[in-house]
Amino acid sequence: MDDTKATFERLIKEDRAGRESRQWRGTLLEYLDKVRDDPYLVKLAHARMHEVITRAGVRDVNETVDARIKRLFKDEPVRVYEFFADQFFGIEKVVAQIARYFHSAALKGEESRQVLYLMGPVGSGKSSLVERLQRGLAESGPFFAIDGCPMFEEPLHLIPRHLRREFEKMLGVHIEGDLCPVCRYRVRQEFGERYEDFPVTTATFSKRNRRGVGIVPPVDPNNQDTSVLIGSEDISKLDLYSEGDPRVLDLNGALNVGNRGMVEFIEVFKNETEYLHAMITATQEKVIPAPGRHGMVYVDTVIVAHSNEAEWQKFKADHTNEAILDRIVVVKVPYNLRLSEEVKIYQKIIRNSDFRAHVAPHTLEMASMFAILSRLEATPKCDLMTKLKLYNGEEVIEKGRTKKIDARELRDEAKREGMSGISTRFIMKALDNALSDSIEGECINPISVREALINMTKEADLPDDTRKQYLDFLQDALHKEYLEQLEKEITKAFVFSYQEQAEALFQNYLDHAEAYVNKTKVRDRNTKEELHPDEGFLKSIEEQIAIIGSAADGFRQEVIAYLWAASRRGERISYRSYEPLKEAIEKKLMTSVRDISRIITKARTRDEEQSEKYDAMAKNLLENGYCPSCVDVVLKYAANNLWKD
Ligand SMILES: Nc1ncnc2c1ncn2[C@@H]1O[C@H](COP(=O)(O)OP(=O)(O)OP(=O)(O)O)[C@@H](O)[C@H]1O
Ligand SMILES: [Mg+2]
Repeated sequence: MDDTKATFERLIKEDRAGRESRQWRGTLLEYLDKVRDDPYLVKLAHARMHEVITRAGVRDVNETVDARIKRLFKDEPVRVYEFFADQFFGIEKVVAQIARYFHSAALKGEESRQVLYLMGPVGSGKSSLVERLQRGLAESGPFFAIDGCPMFEEPLHLIPRHLRREFEKMLGVHIEGDLCPVCRYRVRQEFGERYEDFPVTTATFSKRNRRGVGIVPPVDPNNQDTSVLIGSEDISKLDLYSEGDPRVLDLNGALNVGNRGMVEFIEVFKNETEYLHAMITATQEKVIPAPGRHGMVYVDTVIVAHSNEAEWQKFKADHTNEAILDRIVVVKVPYNLRLSEEVKIYQKIIRNSDFRAHVAPHTLEMASMFAILSRLEATPKCDLMTKLKLYNGEEVIEKGRTKKIDARELRDEAKREGMSGISTRFIMKALDNALSDSIEGECINPISVREALINMTKEADLPDDTRKQYLDFLQDALHKEYLEQLEKEITKAFVFSYQEQAEALFQNYLDHAEAYVNKTKVRDRNTKEELHPDEGFLKSIEEQIAIIGSAADGFRQEVIAYLWAASRRGERISYRSYEPLKEAIEKKLMTSVRDISRIITKARTRDEEQSEKYDAMAKNLLENGYCPSCVDVVLKYAANNLWKD
């Protein structure tokens, strides 16, 4: 106990010492010295944010070994920002657009005088993106501010206009902005115009303490008081001081406290136009009115707004809003459409929550599939499940060939895709429901989650045809997909050392196919005997993916050519290398144990040998991520659904 107490004390002391060592206090004169040593201390809000985003690192999306990513992005260069990468999935292009806004704004392009506006459906990550930016500021370390200024303003504002040119030259910085009325008053009254003695200090960004981060929630339309934005005059002080005395000012509106950092407008278009004008003036002119008769106040802040598409369309339709529209950079934040990334979203949310139950294999994948199917637009080129797989960077096999549909073309045809459909929150709720419905309350699995999704879809407030479509996804497409996966899984659990068997089949197939194509013989690996290629064996693999008759010759040539090219590129060749062949081999293995796995799984009573096999399979499943409870559930499900008699 005393040990832990000592540890607590040490941690607290170290933290305090650390904070104090980073704190700095001095006068303007001393601050000028610091700036001369390091002109980068002086930064406008957009430049600071840009640095926060890029400091963590940037890479190209194609710098990866993931073949799916390469297939999806091909040579399209998309920058991946590490600052967002561990929290945001499948929206690389959205993030890149946000980063581009800050890049131009940091260079004082037109963007520095425009609002960054995120528009997208519910639960697409808008708030989370803004929050990430705010956290980035909070973690970015201290900035220098005039001590006691309600707006933490840049100390260089103290330098009078007529001296600025000279100071700028000496310091190598640009000085922008003017003192707020409160500081102006203090310079005169407290310091007798000796502004060089004015105290300067360090401050850190904090959303909670309203330092450098201001938030504007949608305001009650009956109470559109602009004090939320620009502060107010303290009525109690109006008795003490004359009108026009800055001491009556409470500069504590969101635009005041967000100076130096950012101001977030939540559901922005729910506000009256009057509010929006204050927002626009703040970005465009970088000034806001001070309450009462105190003139204008300079502000330097990143303004980020967000809302859903319906509100945006309504706002856009009103012609009187044209001037505002022109000052907004719109970034669409659609739902993610990549299966692998959708799964990561729920893994993240679960990790950050109190959800502690066991999640059976394929559970999040099935839920994610449903979410994505609901977001896709129909195309004449393929069915939606195929589209989902292509968007996931997978190769889809049809009649022994990979389907030649370009995912990017599909995307280009469906501009609105991702702007509607099932939200991340709907899925999370289904996971929660599945958990509270489970008897022991400690495990969710694809079956219980699909059940929960079906119930929620039935109850949800949806147009009839949409509901019908969603139920079709759940009861048909997803059901089939899951059964396929389940059979694969059970096969793997049944086949002793599945991986090796698959590789052995693959090597054997290659040997014989190569000999067949080159009209040579196969040398037996053990007996060194020269044999004719075994066509019966080749066919037994090929027929798994419906390659029969005259199609076989072409297929064998393709396999050899593909793998030859891959090995020349230095890729390691395995049974997974060529998608059609991989599928054929997996199916072959599946067929080889189908009878036995069916009999053993379905049997009510098992003899000794069968019991042994069953136990070995169950043990394998347990080793592959199942828990005792879901092993039971999925095997019963398989027995009832997989092998129809
Ligand atoms: N592409 C994504 N990557 C990572 N997490 C995501 C993604 N999309 C949504 N999320 C997660 O989903 C949850 C809901 O997102 P968030 O609250 O940010 O949505 P929103 O767009 O602000 O929704 P609303 O319009 O309802 O306010 C959050 O936990 C968020 O992190
Ligand atoms: Mg939100």
